[in-house]
Amino acid sequence: MSAIPQNLPLRNDLIGEEPYGAPQLDVPVCLNVNENPYQPDPAVCEAIARRVRDIAPTLNRYPDREHIELRQAFSDYLARESNTRLDVDELWGANGSNEIMLQLFQAFGGPGRTALGADPTYSMYPEYARDTFTGWQLAHRKADFTLDIEALIEQIHAVGPSMVLLTSPNNPTGTPLPMDEIERVLEVCETAEVAGANAGVHPIVVIDEAYVEFRKSGTESAVSLIKAHPNLAVSRTMSKAFAFAGARVGYLAASKGIIDCVRIVRMPYHLSAVTQAAALAAFEHTDEQLSRVEHLRETREATAAWLETQTYKGEPLDVAESGSNFLLFGGHFDKRDEIFDELLKRGVLIRVVGPAGWLRVCMGTDEEMARFREALTQVLRIVEAA
Ligand SMILES: Cc1ncc(COP(=O)(O)O)c(C=O)c1O
Repeated sequence: MSAIPQNLPLRNDLIGEEPYGAPQLDVPVCLNVNENPYQPDPAVCEAIARRVRDIAPTLNRYPDREHIELRQAFSDYLARESNTRLDVDELWGANGSNEIMLQLFQAFGGPGRTALGADPTYSMYPEYARDTFTGWQLAHRKADFTLDIEALIEQIHAVGPSMVLLTSPNNPTGTPLPMDEIERVLEVCETAEVAGANAGVHPIVVIDEAYVEFRKSGTESAVSLIKAHPNLAVSRTMSKAFAFAGARVGYLAASKGIIDCVRIVRMPYHLSAVTQAAALAAFEHTDEQLSRVEHLRETREATAAWLETQTYKGEPLDVAESGSNFLLFGGHFDKRDEIFDELLKRGVLIRVVGPAGWLRVCMGTDEEMARFREALTQVLRIVEAA
């Protein structure tokens, strides 16, 4: 608990709130925040150092607030990764997709507006809503964590949200979101009303693709729908598959109209020259940065298969289908906090998140996953016997 002095005029709705964030602990095996566990290779580090050194003499000046060169690099990356060529004015960067999402809430949320998600989902969304005075509502998912599309559509009509926010694949469940479901929601939102807005105003659909590079090969990204759907905003990040979480770079792919709305609320010069230089250097080495993605996918499949062979209190563990770099597993852990604590005692940090009975583990290096398997095997026996 942070001790905030009671004589400070903190907003009434923030009194008693805690800062968001998973524990940052110094333990040997960190599998709790869905990072890429592999470090950038030396050529990438060298390119970053060179680019930052080159711009250092210009740091007395503000950076390019439109970050045009970086937006061009996003375009080149998506042309390759998602087979879709977007214009520079259909792209936008920020300090992590956290900031992209906050900017979307600032532009399209606000007092009297509601954003609609699907439960369970990423636990930051209600925080963006709170911070922008936006209402936050959740449609339910089916027992296997897939969307209940009919219930979602009913709720869109009942609530009149300004934003429908879906995560593809979902966090914390890993559930893939099929393209035909995204298209169905887009079509509904093209004519649905937004409560409190003028006639003729319709919701935008935000697809959070933070983990999308881990999707099954051969499946598409929602980026490919942007040209046909001006009400679609796709949020992406360099933090996960691209192995660049520490640099804080996220980006938005959307129609020029949506990007122009976001540009109204952005801070001037929000993306530092150092960040832009580092991101451009990383994009020079896209092959190296993505080189472990296939291996991490294989690690996910192998870990899911292994988890399914494990038992707790005589029942096999459930593992949610994942298109991401993490797995939600358990399903019937009646003491998930104890399992988490016992793993931590053995130097393995995972995450207590999602519906009761489940735990989430992110894919690490081969050595880290071996330690996770060894620790979990011991811990399940200890906790079930306690
Ligand atoms: C679904 C989802 N969206 C967005 C983010 C934010 O990522 P970043 O701000 O590092 O781009 C995360 C981070 O864990 C996430 O899980």
